[in-house]
Amino acid sequence: MVVKTVLIISALMLNLVACDKSDATKPTTGNDKISTIDGNTSNNGNTAAISFVTTQDSKPLMIDTLLFDTPAAKEFLSTGKNPYIGNAEAIAKGKKVYQLYSCAQCHGPEAKGQVGPGIVGPDYKYPKDATNKGMFETVWHGTNGGMGAKGIGLMDPSDPKNGITPDELLKVIAWVRSMSKVTGNE
Ligand code: HEC
Repeated sequence: MVVKTVLIISALMLNLVACDKSDATKPTTGNDKISTIDGNTSNNGNTAAISFVTTQDSKPLMIDTLLFDTPAAKEFLSTGKNPYIGNAEAIAKGKKVYQLYSCAQCHGPEAKGQVGPGIVGPDYKYPKDATNKGMFETVWHGTNGGMGAKGIGLMDPSDPKNGITPDELLKVIAWVRSMSKVTGNE
């Protein structure tokens, strides 16, 4: 009886190990939905890579993984690193997006501050903004002290298609970092 139980337990454990392995080596293709938050599983069975939290109260922040629809955005979703750092083309685009979403009106044309604070760093009111994942969360979901959410679907309750996409936000952050002492990927 004891032997039988032990056998069953070891079989279960082997099974678990096997699952882990296959997940880790499974490549993600363009059409796969990658999961992120709190172990949510998705179409391809992958489990959470990074989990987002709000800047307001550090509560879990759910972002539809399908919005991460470019190679750079997918990489960010699985590593928390911003692949656009140092990429001249992405940085130029990021500056345009920064103007498009009125960031310039509050943070100044060179992000050194205006009505809102400077966001070039290296010191931040929310220390996590020194990381790209942290700054992403702050801009996506907003702050307690005067900045609303800018993420697509959150920025404008009357229009779910209005707001910044993950790929655009990564480019904005790359532009901000291009003037900063930190890359945010440290
Ligand atoms: C209506 C004005 C306004 C707009 C538009 C705006 N912000 Fe802000 N932002 C603020 C204010 C005010 C704060 C300070 C909030 C606080 O203290 O909680 C802030 C804070 C921040 C912070 C955190 C800074 C820190 O020290 O931790 C970042 C990063 C940021 N904004 C980026 C952006 C980006 C990128 C955009 C455009 C997508 C943007 N903001 C648009 C007003 C604005």
